[in-house]
Amino acid sequence: MLTFPRLTHEPLELMGHPIAPNTLLVGCIYLLHHREDLYPEPDKFRPERFLERQFSAFEFMPFGAGTRRCVGYALAMYELKIALGTLLSDYDLTLTSDRPLPPERRGVTLGMKGDVEMVFNGKRAVSPPVLAQI
Ligand code: HEM
Repeated sequence: MLTFPRLTHEPLELMGHPIAPNTLLVGCIYLLHHREDLYPEPDKFRPERFLERQFSAFEFMPFGAGTRRCVGYALAMYELKIALGTLLSDYDLTLTSDRPLPPERRGVTLGMKGDVEMVFNGKRAVSPPVLAQI
């Protein structure tokens, strides 16, 4: 949800706001990722928005940014692709309910409040073509 704090050493201006030295700044990734101008209907789960346009490192920063960006970035992305790719391409799952799951704070990150319940229909014989490319 947040970056780690940064402490300013010199006066600076951030988007028109003067910032004095010795100020603690914490970037709010949650608010950035909810900007309507960047992410129309930001509360909607629309992963295809990432196929529709490219986001710059200033617009999409799940791992923070700059010299203190998450050191686990590459490992986390690697794990995520293997786990999601395996689950979605090898297993046939169906959601049991489309009720919205509100976000819940887990430390500095957000997860879902409650479980995402699914029915396991069996193993897929053939991976869907889109998922085979993950
Ligand atoms: C989906 C998984 C992960 C997410 C979303 C995530 C997110 C973040 C974020 C937002 C920051 C703050 C960066 C900033 O202030 O600019 C951070 C820092 C950090 N993360 Fe991760 N992280 C993930 C996985 C990992 C993993 C797997 C490791 C270790 C193997 C890791 C180790 C660290 C460390 C050590 C920092 C502090 C870096 C520093 O202060 O220089 N993270 N992470």
